[in-house]
Amino acid sequence: MASARVLSTCLFVALLTCTLRCSHCVKLSNIILILTDDQDVEMGGMTPMKKTKALIGDAGVTFSNAFTATPLCCPSRSSILTGKYPHNHMVRNNSISGNCSSTTWQKEAEPFAFPVYLNKLRYQTFYGGKYLNQYGSKDAGGVGHVPPGWDQWHALVGNSKYYNYTLSLNGKEEKHGDNYEKDYLTDLVLNRSLHFLEERSPNHPFFMMLSPPSPHSPWTAAPQYQQSFSDVKAPRDGSFNMPGKDKHWLLRQPANPMPNSSIEYLDNAYRRRWQTLLSVDDMVEQLIKKLDSIKELSNTYIFYTSDHGYHTGQFSLPIDKRQLYEFDIRIPLLVRGPGIKPKQVLQSPVLNIDLSMTILDIAGVNLSTVNMDGQSFLPQMAPSLRNGTERPFFLVEYTGEGHSSTDPSCPKLGPGLAECFPDCVCEDAFNNTYACVRSLKDANLQYCEFADNESFVEMYNLTSDPHQLENIVKKVDPALLQIMNQRLIKLESCTGDSCRNVK
Ligand SMILES: *[C@@H]1O[C@H](CO)[C@@H](O)[C@H](O)[C@H]1NC(C)=O
Ligand SMILES: *[C@@H]1O[C@H](CO)[C@@H](O)[C@H](O)[C@H]1NC(C)=O
Ligand SMILES: *[C@@H]1O[C@H](CO)[C@@H](O)[C@H](O)[C@H]1NC(C)=O
Ligand SMILES: *[C@@H]1O[C@H](CO)[C@@H](O)[C@H](O)[C@H]1NC(C)=O
Ligand SMILES: *[C@@H]1O[C@H](CO)[C@@H](O)[C@H](O)[C@H]1NC(C)=O
Ligand SMILES: *[C@@H]1O[C@H](CO)[C@@H](O)[C@H](O)[C@H]1NC(C)=O
Ligand SMILES: *[C@@H]1O[C@H](CO)[C@@H](O)[C@H](O)[C@H]1NC(C)=O
Ligand SMILES: *[C@@H]1O[C@H](CO)[C@@H](O)[C@H](O)[C@H]1NC(C)=O
Ligand SMILES: *[C@@H]1O[C@H](CO)[C@@H](O)[C@H](O)[C@H]1NC(C)=O
Ligand SMILES: *[C@@H]1O[C@H](CO)[C@@H](O)[C@H](O)[C@H]1NC(C)=O
Repeated sequence: MASARVLSTCLFVALLTCTLRCSHCVKLSNIILILTDDQDVEMGGMTPMKKTKALIGDAGVTFSNAFTATPLCCPSRSSILTGKYPHNHMVRNNSISGNCSSTTWQKEAEPFAFPVYLNKLRYQTFYGGKYLNQYGSKDAGGVGHVPPGWDQWHALVGNSKYYNYTLSLNGKEEKHGDNYEKDYLTDLVLNRSLHFLEERSPNHPFFMMLSPPSPHSPWTAAPQYQQSFSDVKAPRDGSFNMPGKDKHWLLRQPANPMPNSSIEYLDNAYRRRWQTLLSVDDMVEQLIKKLDSIKELSNTYIFYTSDHGYHTGQFSLPIDKRQLYEFDIRIPLLVRGPGIKPKQVLQSPVLNIDLSMTILDIAGVNLSTVNMDGQSFLPQMAPSLRNGTERPFFLVEYTGEGHSSTDPSCPKLGPGLAECFPDCVCEDAFNNTYACVRSLKDANLQYCEFADNESFVEMYNLTSDPHQLENIVKKVDPALLQIMNQRLIKLESCTGDSCRNVK
């Protein structure tokens, strides 16, 4: 409320006095995007985040239907940056050959990522933490490649790590060891961001993207949290340790019930994931304290989300992501900021491809000039600022990863598979390639088609079956299957407006 008043007073004064001030006023709000790695919401991934829930969720909105457009790190992060579905940004997997941080991506997609627009509007920009899985590798230009749009660049080389990592510090290599006080990556990202806030110019707004490694493997908690949650185990409800009997090929492979060794492994992972999140919870608290002390808190939008979900034992898959089910595609999404009323829980379906459009909307960009597939959810969060409608349907699409040779530690398995650990249960395969259409508003339905040699189809009624235990494809009215198939075909080739207006 206060900031809305400040804004209008400021605008009024600016109109009367000089246009230069006005340009400051219009671009007034700061924006922070906190992006965790592999944090689910379905399996209790937000439970340890008490301070984050209070300081962001209770101070603003919690979206109860937030999804990723694709449940794997590099394609998902590419969707966040470009506001596009994978079929339009063309990042298919975590390898350079699948366009993850590839030179093609650097030429064709990265220059149109949303931070570039913000920087042009004179936002001061800061990046800290994990970027894209192949970032910094030799074939992707090494640490010398700093994407356009960033004033301060502190990006991790490669995939998430907590210690013994390399950063690109504005294009220069910076190596780190394993001294907690000096190197723990989550804390380092926070410290660098606080320093950026101290050094920034108060005359222009700022945008920060903080991307801690938590709760990704290797799940290395800060020393003070290594004993936390000693009694915590993965939740045993829903599809935990259930067979995936009526599902696609990959889901029919795991042993059921799971061996005890798998259960021990996943319980340990679950506990350690929570431990690593305690440092992120501290990060949020420290950041908000700082914003308060520099008097920017009431004028800053803070988004908290993750690249995708995660599972621990669902359908007898020990640990990972990559599946079409709720546990892997749902993400946490909490937002606070000017014009957003506190303590709201919103059911509107939102996707990670919407983050960029929402952020550009906040920055006052004319969205019809932006070539992205997502749509701003500012109208849902702050109806006093914007009018807008919800999307009727959305797409989740995924290209399975595999290896052309047999995993030597699992000689009984053939080629074409990936992530066969623990106990030689494979979490991915080349033919785990699918596209799904999802509706939520009138009917909570999911319809998925696989690119495998069975042309497998799965359909779930999430109203009657929230844990997706029963594939209803053989029971449901064929006319409905046909409608869902038509929607899916449209979405799979959509771009821009056609992604938003599927009937
Ligand atoms: C990588 O991106 C380029 C340009 O967008 C595209 O032509 C190519 O097919 C993509 N590669 C894959 C594996 O999708
Ligand atoms: C970091 O690297 C050093 C040197 O190779 C090694 O001794 C140490 O165990 C590593 N620390 C972690 C946490 O991996
Ligand atoms: C971050 O800053 C705090 C407070 O100054 C300090 O105690 C901690 O060691 C720093 N951690 C890292 C990784 O820089
Ligand atoms: C597996 O764990 C269950 C429950 O803790 C126990 O009853 C069973 O004996 C264990 N099986 C093996 C093979 O260790
Ligand atoms: C936004 O851009 C579109 C397309 O260029 C243009 O037609 C429209 O007038 C612009 N709207 C505003 C409010 O400037
Ligand atoms: C939303 O639409 C209504 C009805 O057309 C209009 O009165 C109101 O001013 C609009 N609000 C915003 C924030 O644009
Ligand atoms: C990633 O995608 C490329 C292009 O389709 C493919 O050649 C490569 O095998 C994929 N990588 C993995 C690990 O599946
Ligand atoms: C999927 O790929 C695996 C490994 O290549 C193969 O054994 C299996 O038959 C395939 N299944 C389908 C349905 O395509
Ligand atoms: C699918 O392909 C695999 C080999 O990749 C083969 O073993 C299997 O029989 C095929 N299934 C069908 C239904 O064609
Ligand atoms: C889904 O389940 C709900 C609740 O049981 C039911 O009312 C609805 O008709 C079902 N929809 C379909 C398509 O089966």
